[in-house]
Amino acid sequence: MSHQLLEGKRGIIFGALNSSSIAWHVAEKCHEAGASFVLTNAPIALRMGEINELAAKCNAQIIPADVTSEEDMNALIDQSMEVLGGKLDFILHSVGMSLNVRKGKPYTDLNYEFMHKTLDISAISFHRLLQTCWKKDAISDWGSVVALTYIAAQRTFPDYSEMAEAKSILESIARSFGYHYGKGKNVRVNTISQSPTMTTAGSGVHGFDAFFNYADSISPLGNAPAEACADFCVAMFSDLTRYVTQQNIFHDGGFSNTGVSTEAMAKFASI
Ligand SMILES: NC(=O)c1ccc[n+]([C@@H]2O[C@H](COP(=O)([O-])OP(=O)(O)OC[C@H]3O[C@@H](n4cnc5c(N)ncnc54)[C@H](O)[C@@H]3O)[C@@H](O)[C@H]2O)c1
Repeated sequence: MSHQLLEGKRGIIFGALNSSSIAWHVAEKCHEAGASFVLTNAPIALRMGEINELAAKCNAQIIPADVTSEEDMNALIDQSMEVLGGKLDFILHSVGMSLNVRKGKPYTDLNYEFMHKTLDISAISFHRLLQTCWKKDAISDWGSVVALTYIAAQRTFPDYSEMAEAKSILESIARSFGYHYGKGKNVRVNTISQSPTMTTAGSGVHGFDAFFNYADSISPLGNAPAEACADFCVAMFSDLTRYVTQQNIFHDGGFSNTGVSTEAMAKFASI
């Protein structure tokens, strides 16, 4: 699909780790749509090197930045504007990591040092990004900023653990900063709440396969794949969605508004 919806637009895409990353698909679709952008990830993630392939394909420069570092964030925004030749029109925040999940700590026995780090990486980093851009006046009028989130912000999924809190904060930051950025500079800020997706972060959640299949069987359209999420991001970055802001938009095949499906009911029917 070549629609050039993002022709002439400049952006930053956070979080492409490998070809299954949602951000990887977003980069491919933004490139197809005519955008130019910088790719960024944590220095340690860049060492794996897979992102070089994406950068070559999209003609994009890679700028390392740990989202928990103000210094890195400042340098990233300055260098991106320099490399791209002007202010930014769109940004994708596709960053998430739970130390407690990674270290196998259950929700009822969280390590709070880990939790601080989880919240810093997965949620506060979004405020850090927006505040850095705000102070530098780095986003053009009618620019668009999107962060990826999950429905565990609204409903309990036991194995999602402290990431539920992280996503609640992330979505709240989009609403709050969306107000200030809308009033101050006509910039929109939204979160997209995506279906379970087979990625490195996704499959870190215990029992992810069952989780994925459950959502797929409940959603009338089935789980939304990463490619479709990328298409939706392109739409959100384009001029066709200029008055959408402060929203958490479900991109989940209908999962969030479905109580149960006939397939799921059949599994519980008495014989
Ligand atoms: N996979 C799913 O099921 C799913 C569903 C809904 C929302 N999401 C969200 O989508 C986003 C992208 O995740 P994904 O599923 O594509 O997995 P992914 O593992 O490919 O992406 C997560 C990214 O976060 C980056 N990251 C971690 N710590 C960082 C740091 N300190 N500084 C900079 N970057 C850092 C990682 O390097 C990685 O690129 C996350 O916010 C995730 O919570 C995922």
